Amino acid sequence: MAKPQFRYVCQACGSVQPKWMGQCPDCGEWNTLQQEAAAAVTPFAQKHSLKAGGRVLELQPLDAVIELPKRIATGFGELDRALGGGLVPGSAVLIGGDPGIGKSTLLLQAAGRMARAGHGVAYVSGEEAADQVRLRARRLGLADAPVMLAAATSVRDILTTLSAGTPPALVVIDSIQTMHSDQLEGAPGTVSQVRAASLELISWAKLTGSAVILVGHVTKDGQIAGPRVLEHMVDAVLYFEGEGRHQYRVLRAVKNRFGGTDEIGVFAMEADGLAEVLNPSSLFLTQRENAVPGAVVFPALEGTRPVLVELQALTVRLPSGATPRRAVVGWDGSRLAMLLAVLEARAGLGFGSSEVYLNVAGGLRVVDPAADLAVAAALVSALLDSPVPQDCLAFGEIALSGEVRPTTHAALRLKEAEKLGFRQALAPPATKGVGKLQVSPVASVAALVDRIKRSHPV
Ligand code: TYD
Ligand code: MG
Repeated sequence: MAKPQFRYVCQACGSVQPKWMGQCPDCGEWNTLQQEAAAAVTPFAQKHSLKAGGRVLELQPLDAVIELPKRIATGFGELDRALGGGLVPGSAVLIGGDPGIGKSTLLLQAAGRMARAGHGVAYVSGEEAADQVRLRARRLGLADAPVMLAAATSVRDILTTLSAGTPPALVVIDSIQTMHSDQLEGAPGTVSQVRAASLELISWAKLTGSAVILVGHVTKDGQIAGPRVLEHMVDAVLYFEGEGRHQYRVLRAVKNRFGGTDEIGVFAMEADGLAEVLNPSSLFLTQRENAVPGAVVFPALEGTRPVLVELQALTVRLPSGATPRRAVVGWDGSRLAMLLAVLEARAGLGFGSSEVYLNVAGGLRVVDPAADLAVAAALVSALLDSPVPQDCLAFGEIALSGEVRPTTHAALRLKEAEKLGFRQALAPPATKGVGKLQVSPVASVAALVDRIKRSHPV
C-alpha cells in the first residue's frame, strides 16, 4: 500500500510546505503549519496524451454581445453602494470583520429586506442555533420576513437542500469558518476546509445564478482567517469595520470584480439593528460653539464619496528627560512620525519633548493620503495653542521636503465642504475655490506654521 502523503499548510497565509517547520517561510508566522493529507495530482500531460479526452472549447472574441445580469437591490442603499450598485446574481461576496462588529446583523437585515421585496433568500447559520437567529430577527423587526433559515455546517447538506427547490436569489453563509466539506478531511476552520467549502459554494453559485455572501472572521492581525486564498476566490471582498466603542460602522470594498473598490457604506448600530447613515459628514464632525486648538476638519475621499471628518491633536509638554508617547487612533502611526519629523526639520517646530496624541473623531479610519496637511495643521494648532477657525478645513499631501502636493479630486472635496458651510480651505497651491468657499494656498509646512501663527497670534 502506498504510504500516505502529507503536506503542511500555513494557517495564516495558505502556503504549502513539504515538511513541518516552526515558522512559515512565506509569511514568517510561528506555529501555523498544520499537517494535511496531500491529494495526489498527476499532471495532465502525463495522464493523457493531449489528443485524447478533453472537450474542445469554443473560443470567443472580446467584443461579443454581453448580457449583464440585472443587479438586485439588497434593501440597504449603503450595502448596494459598497457592492458597486447592488448584488450581482451568481456572484460570491466575502464580508470580513472583527467578531461582534455586526456582520450577522447586517446580513440578517439585508436578507429580511430582500425577502420582503419578494426575492428568495436563504440564511444559513453555522454559529448560532435557529432560535437565536429568530430572536435576533424579532429584535430587528423582521420576524415576518419570509427568509428561509437553516442552522447547518455541512456544505453537502446545504447545497442539497438549496438545489431541491428554485435556487434563491441570495444565500448567506454565516460564517465560512464553520462550514465543513466532506470532500476533505480536517476540522472546519482550517485553510483547506475553508478553501474547499468556499469552492463548492462558489461553484454552486455560478452554476445556479444565486448570489452567495460568505461571512469571514478576521484574525488578530486584520486578515480573514483561513485566509488570503479566500479573497482570490470570491468576486468581491468587503470589510465591515469600526471602533468597538463607537456606534459607527463602515463597510469598505477592498476588491470588486463588478465595481470600484474603496467605496464605503456607512451604518450606525442602534438598538434595533443597523441604520444607514446617508450623510456621513454630519456624523464625523463634532458640533461645538467655539474653535479649539488642535481640531481641524479634513474632507476625506472614500471611493467616490467625500466624507468630512474631524482630526484632533493634543500635545502635552513633558519634563525634560521623560520619553514622550505618540498615540494615534484612526490614522497611520508611522505617517504621524514622518509628519512630526518633517515639521521639525522643515518648519523648526519641536515636538521632541511633547507627548502627541492624534484622534480621528467618530471612529473612522482615514487612509486617504491627502490627510497630511490636515494632520499637520492639527498638530501645529495644538502645539501653538492656536485654533484653526471652525469654518476652515485642510487637505493636501506633504512630501519629505515639507512641500505641499496637490491631491486628487480637490473640487469634489470642496463642493461637499461648501455644502456643509465651510468657507475657507488650507489647500495645495493652484487649488480653485468652490462657490463661497475660498482657498488659502499653502505651499509648504513652513507656510502652514506661519499661517496658523498669523491667524491667531498667541
Ligand atoms: P453581530 O451581528 O452578532 O456581530 P458579528 O456577526 O460581526 O460577530 O453583532 C453583535 C453586536 O451588535 C452585539 O455586540 C450587540 C450589537 N447589536 C446592537 O447593538 N443592536 C442590535 O439590534 C443587534 C442585533 C446587535
Ligand atoms: Mg456573527
